[in-house]
Amino acid sequence: MDLISIRDLTKEDVEAYFKKTAEMEKNLASGKKPVSNIVVANLFFEPSTRTSLSFQTAAKRLGADSVVYNASTGSTQKGETLKDTIRIIDGYADLIVIRHPLEGSARLAADVAVHPVINAGDGGNQHPTQTLIDLYTILKCKGKIDGLAVQLVGDLKHARAMRSLLYGLAMFGADVTLVAPKGLEMEKSVIDEVRERFGAKVSERSSLDLKSCDVLYVCRVQKERFSDPYEAEKVQKEFSLHEEDLKDVKKDLIILHPLPKIDEIPESVDRSPHAKYFEQAKYGVPVRMAILYSIIKEAQK
Ligand code: NCD
Repeated sequence: MDLISIRDLTKEDVEAYFKKTAEMEKNLASGKKPVSNIVVANLFFEPSTRTSLSFQTAAKRLGADSVVYNASTGSTQKGETLKDTIRIIDGYADLIVIRHPLEGSARLAADVAVHPVINAGDGGNQHPTQTLIDLYTILKCKGKIDGLAVQLVGDLKHARAMRSLLYGLAMFGADVTLVAPKGLEMEKSVIDEVRERFGAKVSERSSLDLKSCDVLYVCRVQKERFSDPYEAEKVQKEFSLHEEDLKDVKKDLIILHPLPKIDEIPESVDRSPHAKYFEQAKYGVPVRMAILYSIIKEAQK
């Protein structure tokens, strides 16, 4: 019933989420609210705009209520352990959504809680609901995932969204190229895992080559996960997509980004027909409606 890692899902599970999301898009249009008497607790111990607000919007649009734990005024500030905080909230709510800087924190919460737990990001580890949004967006824009040439560009060492997404893309048979600034490459064990598990085609490059690219997925330098913030700022300044990079690209190339974007995509690119990241962010609501709905129904069985 929990959703902690993209590894918890089979391809069939992911496809069922896509199907449910399409249904939820219809519900959004008609205003139908299929859930009642459910409280979703949101605990965010790291900054969030999209994930936290789209989960709250999704709950509301489903007919559920949300309560929000404020990490800056909550009792973890007094020294209460995460375990105890989870135990308490588990007694109030029917489902817990958690984001926390510690890798493994969502799994710990799931072990403690009786109710289902959804991982909204645990440190640099996993961000499974973002991956479902990313895959759904690709499917909506391109009609398929299998065989697409996808480039993941950015801080692949620290970005949980990229780790989860590589797994999801491999599961669906995309050809993935990884492009990272020096020192920020994806951990080898993560690449080995998808090669072994899915026979995935994954290659690594040190610079962009977008000629045959179908999906360009960019993420920011994850400054908060660097031990030296000056180092992060230096890389961030040097690392950016330029309009010239998009000169010879395929007409139907799409550019995605989990957001927030900082300097890595110039504002002028926002106006390009390739830029789909705002549309991608919008899918956060129906995708998270599908996730909440499916988990609530499973828990009620
Ligand atoms: C991502 C995250 O928190 O991992 N943001 C998000 O959920 N949309 C990506 C990021 O912060 O760079």
